[in-house]
Amino acid sequence: MTTDELREAYLDFFVSKGCVRRPSDVLVPNDPTVLFTPAGMNQFKREFMGLGDPNFTRATTCQKCIRTGDIENVGKTSFHETFFEMLGNFSFGDYFKREAIHWAWEFLTKVLKMDRERLTITVYLDDDEAFNIWHDEIKVPASRITRMGEDDNFWPAGAPTHGPDGVCGPCSEIFYHGNGPKEVEIWNLVFTQFNRVGPGQLEPLPSKNIDTGMGLERAAACLQGVPTVFATDIFKPIVAAVSDQLSVKYDASSLDGIRIRRMADHSRALTFCIHENVKPDKQKQGYVIRRLLRRAVLDAYQMGYREPFLYQIIPTVADVMKRPYPELQESVKRIQTVVREEEEQFLNNLENGLKRLNDTFSKTKAAGSDTFSGAEAFVLHSTYGIPIEVTESLANDQNLRVDMKAFEEASDKHGAISRGTTEAAAVFATGPLDTLKKSYHRGSEFLGYETTESDSEVIGIIEQKNLADSAQVGGTTPVALILDRTPFYGESGGQVGDLGEIRGEGFVFQVIDTKKDNDFTIHIGNVVEGKVAVGNRAKAVVDPTRRQAIRRAHSATHVLHHALHTHLGKHAQQAGSKVEPDRLRFDFSNPEAVGRDRLRLVEETVNQRVLLGEDVSWSTMPIEEARSLGAMALFGEKYPDIVRVVKMGEFSRELCGGTHLDNVGQVGLFKIVSEESVSAGVRRITALTGQAAIDYVRQEEEILSEVAQSLKVSPAMVVDRVNTILEEIKTLKKEAKQRKAEGPSTKASPDELLASATAVNDLKVIAHALENVSPDDLRQLIDVLRRKVGTGLAVLLASVVDGKVNLAAGLTPDIVESKVLNAGHWLKDVAPVVGGGGGGRPDLAQAGGKDPSKVAEALEKALAHVKAKLQG
Ligand code: ALA
Repeated sequence: MTTDELREAYLDFFVSKGCVRRPSDVLVPNDPTVLFTPAGMNQFKREFMGLGDPNFTRATTCQKCIRTGDIENVGKTSFHETFFEMLGNFSFGDYFKREAIHWAWEFLTKVLKMDRERLTITVYLDDDEAFNIWHDEIKVPASRITRMGEDDNFWPAGAPTHGPDGVCGPCSEIFYHGNGPKEVEIWNLVFTQFNRVGPGQLEPLPSKNIDTGMGLERAAACLQGVPTVFATDIFKPIVAAVSDQLSVKYDASSLDGIRIRRMADHSRALTFCIHENVKPDKQKQGYVIRRLLRRAVLDAYQMGYREPFLYQIIPTVADVMKRPYPELQESVKRIQTVVREEEEQFLNNLENGLKRLNDTFSKTKAAGSDTFSGAEAFVLHSTYGIPIEVTESLANDQNLRVDMKAFEEASDKHGAISRGTTEAAAVFATGPLDTLKKSYHRGSEFLGYETTESDSEVIGIIEQKNLADSAQVGGTTPVALILDRTPFYGESGGQVGDLGEIRGEGFVFQVIDTKKDNDFTIHIGNVVEGKVAVGNRAKAVVDPTRRQAIRRAHSATHVLHHALHTHLGKHAQQAGSKVEPDRLRFDFSNPEAVGRDRLRLVEETVNQRVLLGEDVSWSTMPIEEARSLGAMALFGEKYPDIVRVVKMGEFSRELCGGTHLDNVGQVGLFKIVSEESVSAGVRRITALTGQAAIDYVRQEEEILSEVAQSLKVSPAMVVDRVNTILEEIKTLKKEAKQRKAEGPSTKASPDELLASATAVNDLKVIAHALENVSPDDLRQLIDVLRRKVGTGLAVLLASVVDGKVNLAAGLTPDIVESKVLNAGHWLKDVAPVVGGGGGGRPDLAQAGGKDPSKVAEALEKALAHVKAKLQG
């Protein structure tokens, strides 16, 4: 029997026993007590506590689970996995021990046709009822039934002594003894019949429950007669893909065999998690994922492989799992992008990490110690991602031992995240809403799709985490008010909660935020007048202007999603969103930046849709129907059986609980303000709608008009003008650079200028270029020089300012009198070289020129002029 056939056979069998087949919960459930879904029962906590729909009493599921408690055994043992599927059947106050045991046996021996001689049973120490059913009714010989203690046969394990308080019960486990696999537990039947109220204090529950879990891959291995889960039909191709990729022959009994199995296991966990948008990260689930990925990469590294490879395994995982999880196919590219990027990053770190490890080996030995620092091992673990047991085994090779106590201390300080999920603790914690749920098991009715106002009744008040009868002005703030029915939208699906007011006779309550919890809408806020009490009638009024702005942003989000699919492709799946009044943030999968041109097309498509003004409508339908209509859903999101589908014209259908416009045209205007990267393979668009978009455009317009004014051109000419200015700046920079290259002489002081003078007969002649000196300053400088020297000095200075050449020439009075030279004539001769003309008095003259590149030539000419005059 294939694994796919086994999964279906199990679910069909329990459907035939009256169980409702329910989909698997997501891997990261909406439940703060666990990091990942560890078992099938977790999605039914409410039902187990008697808080569910009284008509829903039997269920069966195949649950995707992740457990990391035994992570070190993965690959080493035959049956440990991180990601696995758990087949379960559940009773909420309905069938109990007898049926659970009989049906389990019937399924194993009749449907799966397992040889009853291969099965053994364990029961809890004093659970005679279970023992007798197995022994007397099923006819399992006493020699094949073992009584075990609370650590093995109670769920949660050890609950009577160690807790937690809450519902719990003895369990009975079924083991298979194969040829290939040795003894393996394949099914755990939990008889949830007690409420623990203190150590050893177990009170019988009025309604008893059944929670069972069968490991799908384990059972498949038994049926297929193979020694490990890794040899089943569903795992073998993944193991083969890993060994192919690494070009290593798979030898199950070698060290590399362990590594290959670990890589195969981890690639499944990674595929499923990243599909649900859990990414490698520094904390929580992301940290677990990162650790799995690094472990796999390190395994390959130790086998001599230096390239990213794990991402190449993802298509095989998606392929073998496609029957139960066809949606994985759509995510393959996205998952590969994330995995590859993370692999590359880690490989970069790894070189450094191993180097640090080797340095520490050397230092430790040089210090004559045989103990590898635990703190150092923790740094290698936390910063470089080198798992502790790898450090340990490498240290061993060097005859060193790792100080594990110090490592544990460092790791404790860091938090317990890396040790995996909390599998049972606080499973059944209860809060004030659970108490309320007993009277109102459907929660609060939401009226906000049709209206922003309602007449309601106050059914609950929560003050400092406890139920209260009343709250009054001046009391605790904030408090939470719960109504039987409400138009307020509680924050969910990325859409923010509504604000507004709830008033009744003798009180006014201001709502500053609205949340959703446990099917209730929680109005958080302050009593601003009087006193509100449970049972009061109240009028609930949502701030309508803000709500309308939220509707615009939310509807625009759906249009944007459609436009992204149009211009980027179907892979541009939503990965998250935030919808606020007239502002939205939309995260989606795309391997690279969208680029300006495509972003413009996306914006244009949205606005065209807005202009078409098609109707927005919604309806509820079974989830299968919604999917078959092609409605878009979010991966990693749990949807109920009956879903709400929001439809826009014929172009968009999305599963969505948010509040939307009646017509797409009401978006008014859609304006993208940014596009950026969020994480590997995920981009984020931020956009505005309605009034905010109009304000934004107006602000841009004002900025443009101010710029135009400063530039003294019309807005239409701004680009031309700016280009011209930029051109000028470029030229100036080039000139400045050139002048700089000409050397420091252009900045000379009077003394330096004098030092540079050339003697022609008995005159001193200065012909020099200076940097950025105005005509006035040139003249002054000439005066200074003339005064300083008194007689026999002829000066001609040049300077470039703003791309133009200034020239000035001066002579001491004795030269003027001798009439050998004339400053005016001198300049008249020289200025044409720089494309100018000019002249002036015989003792002082000025000129301008247009060609700065000819300054040097002009100065040569100036000297030549003097020589010609003096030497004939
Ligand atoms: N919840 C039980 C388990 O996980 C069935 O073993």
